[in-house]
Amino acid sequence: MFASLRRSLGSAVRVMPRPAAILVAGRTFSASTAIRSDKLFVHRNTPENHPGIEFEFTAENKKRAEDILKRYPAQYKKAATIPLLHLAQKQHGWVPIYVMDYVAKLLEIPPMRVYEVATFYTMFNREPVGKYFLQVCTTTPCELCGASNIVKAIEDHLGIKLGETTEDGLFTLVEVECAGACVNAPVMAINEDYYEDLTPETTTKLLDDIKAGKPIKLGPQSARHSCEPAGGPTTLTTEPYGPGFMVRPDL
Ligand code: FES
Repeated sequence: MFASLRRSLGSAVRVMPRPAAILVAGRTFSASTAIRSDKLFVHRNTPENHPGIEFEFTAENKKRAEDILKRYPAQYKKAATIPLLHLAQKQHGWVPIYVMDYVAKLLEIPPMRVYEVATFYTMFNREPVGKYFLQVCTTTPCELCGASNIVKAIEDHLGIKLGETTEDGLFTLVEVECAGACVNAPVMAINEDYYEDLTPETTTKLLDDIKAGKPIKLGPQSARHSCEPAGGPTTLTTEPYGPGFMVRPDL
């Protein structure tokens, strides 16, 4: 059929082959699907992740879930999908299929609606993570300030690669997109706290201190208190003007 169509349209139609790869001036362009994540976004039942496992919010989280649900009109309960998944991940550490099913039941929506959300947002962990979830930002500002060196320092120190968990189950390492703290780049989140202005040395010390149960400093690991200029103040460096400055004396 295709051949006859081609004949009837004449030479104006050129049927181009669709090779998997085209070589142009020495460079290969691949037509295969780009890998955009190191995660497989397909569920496969495993002994620790299948719909037959029971899950329930704790009494405290049930109360929180009720409070969350009160924010939405009854007919729009599904709007609470993300807050409830987040609450579930806080309790459970990750979001397996039986947790998604539980959330779907609470919201009285088809489980697929919850699967769609949980698989779209990479912030929901679909696999178990270590007690300390290390998320190193590797987006441009952090990368320009040495994020790759931070990743390498952690990998070398803990003996794991990106996406892996240490054998003792303490640390899981992943890279993430901008953590929204670029002014303090390079940045790493450990669970829900940020550690900023990192160097390979301060990063490995942080990990050692966490492992040893020592207190650690949140935020900048440099001399900075917060996100003020690293080289000292650059504005408002003089005494503030008093009342009447630049105003005519007779006014
Ligand atoms: S680029 Fe790393 S926090 Fe924004």
